[in-house]
Amino acid sequence: MRMTLPVMGAILLASFGLSSAKPYAAQEKPGSTEPKMTPEDTAKKNPIPPTPEGLAEVRKLYGYNCAMCHGKTGDGKGDLAADMKLELRDWRDASSLEKVTDGELFWIISNGKGKMPGEGDRTKERVRWNFVNLVRSFAKKEVADKP
Ligand code: HEC
Repeated sequence: MRMTLPVMGAILLASFGLSSAKPYAAQEKPGSTEPKMTPEDTAKKNPIPPTPEGLAEVRKLYGYNCAMCHGKTGDGKGDLAADMKLELRDWRDASSLEKVTDGELFWIISNGKGKMPGEGDRTKERVRWNFVNLVRSFAKKEVADKP
């Protein structure tokens, strides 16, 4: 077990270096080796039930990593989204993600989509499923009403 930590650190560093060296535009090239969502991905069920603790944990991460595009309230009107002229869904509207499965949301959060960078393995699976829970929660009254 002694070697595990430094080795993992090296892998993490290497993957950070790789992903940050790629500008957004480079990730969008047609015919690139972007990962593809499979039917199994789409069908995946969320194994993590939403809890106040789990949501509180990801809400913090959301503030640093997602709100600049998706907006603090999930309205899709973050500053960076405006700068990049992104048209994002308003998650406060329950119909916006009605037809999208948890598995798809999880996949997009993990792998990214278009101009959105994915989390990859930077966050644990459990945390990424909690992002799914958080994204869903924006459509619920009590969260959507928060400033
Ligand atoms: C650079 C801006 C940007 C950041 C930062 C960002 N996203 Fe996105 N997100 C997007 C774009 C663009 C899409 C794709 C919209 C489309 O294709 O219709 C998207 C799509 C999604 C979707 C799929 C559902 C939908 O509304 O299309 C989820 C879920 C999502 N993002 C969650 C997150 C989470 C969680 C974070 C933070 C860990 C995050 N995003 C960070 C831009 C961003």
